Amino acid sequence: MELNECLEGRRSIRKFMTDEVSREKIEEMIKAAILAPSWKNSQVSRYYVTSSIEKTKEFLSCLPEFNQNSIQNAPVVVVSTIVKKRSGFERDGSYSSHLKDGWQYFDNGLQIQNFCLKAYELGLGTLIMGIYDVDKIREFFNIPDEEEIVAVVAVGYPAEEPQMPKRKTVEDITKFIAG
Ligand SMILES: Cc1cc2nc3c(=O)[nH]c(=O)nc-3n(C[C@H](O)[C@H](O)[C@H](O)COP(=O)(O)O)c2cc1C
Repeated sequence: MELNECLEGRRSIRKFMTDEVSREKIEEMIKAAILAPSWKNSQVSRYYVTSSIEKTKEFLSCLPEFNQNSIQNAPVVVVSTIVKKRSGFERDGSYSSHLKDGWQYFDNGLQIQNFCLKAYELGLGTLIMGIYDVDKIREFFNIPDEEEIVAVVAVGYPAEEPQMPKRKTVEDITKFIAG
């Protein structure tokens, strides 16, 4: 798929078909995520996947009602975490830059973007969710304390074709300086 077609065509999907998504496809998406750049190539993102419809249904209780409603038919949920205190940190545990612990989330976002774009190329829809019950998710997947939960992404075949929400223009957000 041509890059711009992928960038423009990907949408947040809030209505999914119940069709299963193969493990191979999820692995392809995680492989795409791994190709993203990261702070000193630290690659701190980790993934937890519900690999059965039953498990995904159980997972819904980790989400607020509005997100549950959006992904009620989605067959797969992927939780991304980061291994803490590596990306953006010095060996002695101090911050490397003014962004403090921000780079680890930046790195994770780059991976999740690759993940969602690859999903779109494979004919799949995704919904990134930032509102969830963090304690329930930690228990659900038995996520270790060294990791922090960042994004929850539902994956499935889309049952809707939403319009692109309005985007800002280059002029809106850019200042070119010269001389
Ligand atoms: C960090 C982040 C958190 C988000 N959390 C939610 C969420 O909890 N629920 C939801 O329905 N959409 C969520 N979204 C989706 C955004 O609303 C969506 O990306 C935005 O409206 C632009 O639409 P598009 O993805 O179709 O381009 C989130 C997106 C991001 C990047």
